Amino acid sequence: AKPNPQAHDPFALVRDEISNVGERMRRSIATDVPMLGDAADYFFAQGASGKRVRPTVLLLLASVLSGSERPPNVADVDRAAPAAHLTAVDETADAPSYLRSRQQRLAEITELIHVASLLHDDVVDGADTRRGVASLNAHASNKLAVLAGDFLLARASVQLANLRDPDVIVLLSTVLEHLVAGEVMQLNADRTERLSYDHYMKKTYYKTASLLAHSCEAVAVLGGATAEERRSAHLYGKHLGIAFQLVDDALDFDVDNAELGKPGGGADMANGLVTLPVLYAMEGSDELRAMASNKFRGDGAVARALEIVLSGDAVERTRQLAAYHATMARDACMSLPCSRRVAQTGTHATRCRDALAELAARVVVRSS
Ligand code: FPP
Ligand code: MG
Ligand code: MG
Repeated sequence: AKPNPQAHDPFALVRDEISNVGERMRRSIATDVPMLGDAADYFFAQGASGKRVRPTVLLLLASVLSGSERPPNVADVDRAAPAAHLTAVDETADAPSYLRSRQQRLAEITELIHVASLLHDDVVDGADTRRGVASLNAHASNKLAVLAGDFLLARASVQLANLRDPDVIVLLSTVLEHLVAGEVMQLNADRTERLSYDHYMKKTYYKTASLLAHSCEAVAVLGGATAEERRSAHLYGKHLGIAFQLVDDALDFDVDNAELGKPGGGADMANGLVTLPVLYAMEGSDELRAMASNKFRGDGAVARALEIVLSGDAVERTRQLAAYHATMARDACMSLPCSRRVAQTGTHATRCRDALAELAARVVVRSS
């Protein structure tokens, strides 16, 4: 699955809608506790929450599943009042825009959970920066960053409950458990677990892929999808998430990559983390295995480990595994039968499906 330079920018298809989602998120975090609102807002104001990959994926997927011939009329859809987080979606709207509004809300909920997990992650990791700007824990304090993350989760919970769909609530609540489980697996791994491929893959699924897998499935549930469509949506998100994290772990071994926006050069090892490039490289190096087992502690260990990893093909093999997962993601989304409802090609639904496939291909070659 190679990226296609001629393909439309996957982000362009939903750009206007995403800016609405972003705006609604900012409004939904208004609160009468200014310190909390300001803290949560800090994250959005800095643009530190990134490219909104998750909402983009979810809205593209929603269009695929709807089989629609044309893009949704964004102006019609959910221009909510400031207190929207306390209200259910307007049921008097016509059926397609009612459904679309619910799927947009799901995109917001997903992004709120993601942002909350990053606020907590920076505390756990003791990170000073995120995407080149001071992290909230560095800018304010650990206490405030933890509470701001909790606040975003609380707002996400109310929004989730307001969708009034028990299956969707179960799916997204499961993600919360997985995020915590993944983080704890990483934090508390013993020597055997630290050197285990299975432990690494399970942690990767919990930490990164579960949110995409379950939120994609939830978009399908909201859209009244069949069991098979639900499964394909889940698999798309899961494989995309795994590919994304594998590339992240490969990029950490870039020595001078100005685009990265974070340290690189073996920063994960410096934090005591064993990622897939190390697991591959240690197959041929007992020296590296011993250092990994010992969390790369001791003078010069990280530099020496970096040298060993970069001397072989471990980073390349990691990217190859990412490419495999990207192909699985593409296969899952291409199996979504937008043609069940719409026979011809060239509709909005098929363009969105191509965009999902393109997004998977681009994840593998990204450099930041
Ligand atoms: C980023 O990983 C971290 C995550 C994707 C998940 C973090 C989850 C928690 C802290 C558990 C709390 C959960 C909730 C629901 C609030 P990273 O540190 O490898 O990546 P980075 O480079 O983005 O910091
Ligand atoms: Mg981190
Ligand atoms: Mg972390």
